[in-house]
Amino acid sequence: MSKLIGPFREVITLANTPEKGTLSDSELEIIQNGGVLIEDGKILKVGAFGDLAMEASEIEEVGDDQVLMPGLIDCHTHLVWGGTRARDYTLRMSGESYEKILEQGGGIFDSVEKTRNASADLLKSGLIKRANRHLQDGVTTIEVKSGYGLDVANELKILEVIKAGKAEVEADLIPTCLAAHVCPTEFQDKKLFLEYLEKELLPKLLVKGLTNRVDIFVEPSAFPVEIAKSYMLAAKKLGFDLTIHADQFNTGGSQIAVELGARSADHLEASTEKEIEILAKSDTVAVALPGASIGLGMQFTPARKLLNAGASLAISTDWNPGSGPMGDLLVQASILGIYEKLSSAEIFSGLTFRAAKALGLHDRGRIKAGMKVDMISFPVDDYREILYNQGKIKPIMIWKNGNRIENV
Ligand code: NIG
Ligand code: FE
Repeated sequence: MSKLIGPFREVITLANTPEKGTLSDSELEIIQNGGVLIEDGKILKVGAFGDLAMEASEIEEVGDDQVLMPGLIDCHTHLVWGGTRARDYTLRMSGESYEKILEQGGGIFDSVEKTRNASADLLKSGLIKRANRHLQDGVTTIEVKSGYGLDVANELKILEVIKAGKAEVEADLIPTCLAAHVCPTEFQDKKLFLEYLEKELLPKLLVKGLTNRVDIFVEPSAFPVEIAKSYMLAAKKLGFDLTIHADQFNTGGSQIAVELGARSADHLEASTEKEIEILAKSDTVAVALPGASIGLGMQFTPARKLLNAGASLAISTDWNPGSGPMGDLLVQASILGIYEKLSSAEIFSGLTFRAAKALGLHDRGRIKAGMKVDMISFPVDDYREILYNQGKIKPIMIWKNGNRIENV
């Protein structure tokens, strides 16, 4: 039974938009008065509503004056945590640095203590609340990292929470193991800690089917390049997909991300021409995290330069209790766009199929035959209104796997 959804004033399909490099808005495929024919949660055809109406067995009418685009994909979040870091934020507003707070046992360590002390039920309810808020904002696929456990039992607890949460939310949650976030205080030696994770945690993740993705924070204050590289190589040999927190304050991480064939290198606020070139030549997606720049009051990822050099650029929230507490993807992407001088086409691509690429997903991020019916519509009559309103106009309708999400 096929169903036609529409008519929409504009359908922004992103159907054949390239995976890498610069894009101008003239490259956006915009179907006026468009419709989407679907069956079993998949897109069958996209085209003029009037033409498709003949083929449909059923029609789901939407009000006019809406712009439809693919559901947003947030390929970098840390949604499972206990407690709050309002204290850190207040310290940072008065001039204290993120790294100094960490060095003094606050920052990530503070969230680790609170997360270890929180019950799985409490963590799960926090995750569900945040994932549902994200879905209401149009985010239909959400990557979620562990990383506030830092030992086998607590990292497993967090990844089990993500697995349990997955069954209770309509957005897709894609788990990633970030046990190598920082070295916990009970380990004096960073290399020994990573060896412990490699032997005691990573094989269990595979046996339990908790995740096929591994992340690490590469930074002198977390894990320096050389020892990070051998841990990630071991993870790769075990069959994990890799992603790296790279070049946030110091360079080095993006280079090993490319060398190891990581799906993405995320942050990149400190990347210079050299790192930009390396990323641009690679198949690794560069992920800008404007929420972390806003949360830390620091420079943005050089998104314009990365695109000009030919890189694939995704934009994500980094939603976490410390550096990125806001978690509003559209607001952050709009702000990045105006500072970095990005086209709407570059921003929409970074929020959809380029973010899907960072997650190794090829079934979403475009409105095109064969793709999942993950779509969002905005109550505007021109796509330019979406970014112009800087994220304050939220989606009015959201479809996940072909079903309309209620309460939007
Ligand atoms: O992506 N930079 C490292 N990790 C996270 C922040 C985690 C935290 O501050 O709690 C990030 O910014
Ligand atoms: Fe992060």
